[in-house]
Amino acid sequence: MSTESNSDQHAYLVTGGAGFIGCNFLRYLLETEPDAKVVNLDLLTYAGSLSNLQDLPDTGRYTFVQGDITDADLVAELFEKHGITRVIHFAAESHVDRSITGPAAFIQTNIIGTFTLLEAARKAWAGREDDCRFLHVSTDEVYGTLAPNDPPFSETTAYAPNSPYSASKAASDHLVRAYLKTYKLPVVTTNCSNNYGPYQYPEKLIPLMILNALTGKNLPIYGDGLQIRDWLYVMDHCSGIHAALSRGRIGETYNIGGLNEEANINIVHLICDILDELRPKTGGGSYREQITHVTDRPGHDRRYAIDAEKICTELGWAPAESFQTGIRKTVEWYLDNQIWVNSVMSENYDEWISLNYADRKEGMDQ
Ligand code: NAD
Ligand code: DAU
Repeated sequence: MSTESNSDQHAYLVTGGAGFIGCNFLRYLLETEPDAKVVNLDLLTYAGSLSNLQDLPDTGRYTFVQGDITDADLVAELFEKHGITRVIHFAAESHVDRSITGPAAFIQTNIIGTFTLLEAARKAWAGREDDCRFLHVSTDEVYGTLAPNDPPFSETTAYAPNSPYSASKAASDHLVRAYLKTYKLPVVTTNCSNNYGPYQYPEKLIPLMILNALTGKNLPIYGDGLQIRDWLYVMDHCSGIHAALSRGRIGETYNIGGLNEEANINIVHLICDILDELRPKTGGGSYREQITHVTDRPGHDRRYAIDAEKICTELGWAPAESFQTGIRKTVEWYLDNQIWVNSVMSENYDEWISLNYADRKEGMDQ
């Protein structure tokens, strides 16, 4: 973990800190900035859990508030009460498949929620913008999809979102930009590729495959499985966000990526191979035998890849974890944290699995 520290005593509002990336970022922040005060505002939706935060160091500098980022009165009160000078905005509906089955929550949280935070910051920071920063955490999905020979997404790639999720994130990015141009709000946006690592909710590809494999279920590959994602270990995303926050230029966007493009089917093969070694199947054979091709995701983006040159050269950021080491650590983490797994795989989880997978037909051509 970085030892970079900041002697100013900033007061942070971290939104969505009980989710996957947010909970990893809180650990990073509390360790990296020994003087920072941190308020975590999280609604605790299905994706957020206090069990993600159980081992946070007891620093006396951290406060948890359960609440909704669309609640303007609550957000304004938090700015005032805690003298917030830094916002790190993670809170979102984050799962593409859920945005297909139920887009309304994505519009509400990702667009209205971001708007609510921007408004609160604009009012609270009027006249002291130089001392404040609003870091908006966004995604590479706003750029749409790449053909095999296209260059990776850069910060100047045109927006072309294809799912309700990515469209809602694109809208939020545009609001952030508008608050910079119109109100001189001191914003920085990061657009990151696929994260993986500890505490990721098992609706996402990597944890879903690990846990399905261990429980003898099918490993459902959408379509041909040759879709490509650019995988980044979550702590490397956290260090990138912190670099953009502390050294990034106001009004800039920074792409963050793993420099690690891989087809989904190869990811799943690798997970199976690691599990075959660490937790061999009792009856023999390989976890690969559980792989099943199922109906593809509608509007499925074929390839994402990030050109991270700007953050690397301008801010000196680089990922610390290779994919080979990161994926092994991640599989080990899920094997070692069965209590956490049990705590997040509730009735709601089973409902989601049934909704998303029950009607997908099996076979390569679906
Ligand atoms: P997540 O779904 O794991 O966590 C989201 C968190 O936000 C949860 O704790 C949830 O309770 C909270 N939340 C949701 N609605 C809320 C509301 N209305 N008010 C307050 N809190 C609310 O998401 P994640 O994977 O940690 O992603 C965090 C951010 O990073 C998102 O903005 C996402 O778009 C972005 N991002 C994610 C990835 C990725 O690979 N996971 C990659 C790039 C960018
Ligand atoms: O690129 C950044 C984005 O990465 C983030 O903005 C999103 O919040 C995050 O959810 C992630 O989106 P993806 O759709 O890429 O992630 P997901 O884990 O859902 O899927 C990864 C790939 O695996 C994708 O091509 C779909 C495929 N997939 C996924 C699941 C859940 C399968 O083949 N089978 C599955 O069961």
